[in-house]
Amino acid sequence: MPNKSITRLPQWQALEAHFADLQDVDISDLFGSDENRFENFHETLDGLIFDYSKHHASKDTIALLMELAEACELSDWREKMVSGVKINHTEGRAVLHMALRGSVASSLMVDGENVSKFVQETLKQIHKISDDIRGNSAITDVVNIGVGGSDLGPRMVCDALYHDADGPNVHFVSNVDGHEITQLLAKLDPLHTVFIVASKSFSTLETMINAKTARAWCVRTLGEIGVADHFYAISTNVEAAAEFGIHEGNILPMRDWVGGRYSVWSAIGLPIAVAVGFDKFTAFLKGAKTVDQHFMDAPLAQNIPVLMAMLGIWYNNFHGLHTHCILPYAHSFQHLCGYIQQLDMESNGKSVRRDGALVDYATGPTIFGKPGTNGQHAFFQLLHQGTQIIPADFIAAINPNHNLYDHHDALLANALAQSEAFMLGQDNEDDPHRHFEGNRPNSMILMERFDPYHLGMLMALYEHKTFVQGVVWGINSFDQCGVELGKKLAKPITQAIESGQIPKGLDGSSESLIDLILEKFIKS
Ligand code: F6P
Repeated sequence: MPNKSITRLPQWQALEAHFADLQDVDISDLFGSDENRFENFHETLDGLIFDYSKHHASKDTIALLMELAEACELSDWREKMVSGVKINHTEGRAVLHMALRGSVASSLMVDGENVSKFVQETLKQIHKISDDIRGNSAITDVVNIGVGGSDLGPRMVCDALYHDADGPNVHFVSNVDGHEITQLLAKLDPLHTVFIVASKSFSTLETMINAKTARAWCVRTLGEIGVADHFYAISTNVEAAAEFGIHEGNILPMRDWVGGRYSVWSAIGLPIAVAVGFDKFTAFLKGAKTVDQHFMDAPLAQNIPVLMAMLGIWYNNFHGLHTHCILPYAHSFQHLCGYIQQLDMESNGKSVRRDGALVDYATGPTIFGKPGTNGQHAFFQLLHQGTQIIPADFIAAINPNHNLYDHHDALLANALAQSEAFMLGQDNEDDPHRHFEGNRPNSMILMERFDPYHLGMLMALYEHKTFVQGVVWGINSFDQCGVELGKKLAKPITQAIESGQIPKGLDGSSESLIDLILEKFIKS
């Protein structure tokens, strides 16, 4: 990437000119001028269909977007990532989540270690531990304690694959709000419960507080000895996990070349293997590997994550639409949006380029969403008739994992109808309140079935989409400095609330709020 703003690239300027030409053309007109539009604007990959025909994009748009991607040296960055170059330059780290599903060279070494060998050894550990837990009839419940990437990925997958779950009940605790763990522990018995403390750093406040509470709860019934049998840890910080009292053989290692929000494929995925079994966890990894191969090999204009990313850039940077909606038509995908929020917003919510200069263009959009059809009864009014146009991804499975076909017919029909309504709208010259402008762009990601393999594919698509956008925006998608300040400021405030001593130098609002809290806070 040249050390100048991408807005000065001729490819960027060509897209600006193209936008001016196309802005008055409706998406539905594009179907009129190309009777093979669906044929020309969809891609398939091993049971997954990506339909991008309902976008405000012509063949020229796609060609120009791909030229921009090339001008931003996408192929080189992709190669750098897969070959272990430390592209997370602010933290001096390689970015190798693709290694976790076997998509890097088997000879790849990072910091003197063979990456694939490490991955294979960890997989063996995941296999053994998940088999042990599943095979132990005394264990009925497993609690994953983690937050962010150490929670959202496995939580999302365990929920989405509930129909495949045949192991112990798997629960997730993430919030420092004591209500969450209190509510859960009230239902569990320490004798039959195992905890997985998942924290890449083994220092995250929420996780450490929850882990201590869980440990104390366990020790109250089982004594200190219970910790060895009832606690597992996943971390890069093996020493801290051991210090916490976790038995050496129960600690699964991670490496710093996997970012938290990309870590579901690592030992962080242990709860998935516990819930659905190691074979299905392997199928999940395989799905991601299929997408990795596609991402590495398919020409850019047929490359699904590249298309997803560049269409996002088209809206964000040329149409000025800075919000993106995720609409899985799958009730068990309650956590998909949260997972993609962290993946996308923590990765690309940046305003400084890799070279330290401020960007002069929009970067990561706001992501929100909810499974259909519930979302229809919550925020679709705004999507259809509000003043903002919000591009959306519909995600649906052709086959359900149940046999209530009347439900599934209605679910699929609603996904398709909403997608159509967004694009077509409906004129009503007599009644403006009932007029639908339409021309709202959306993609449809259809899968044969939501099984571990296709779920792995879906999640890897979003990972690579995020990567491509970060490359084009010239930012580092792999650090998260923005989450540090709030954490730092919480420390003296915690001390103030604990001790009753208000620190100096606080702003007037915070000082008054602490004062008020101290006045009313009764600790019994
Ligand atoms: O939100 C900040 C963050 O560092 C995420 O990037 C990470 O996924 C999460 O906290 C949890 O971190 P850890 O796994 O180290 O506890």
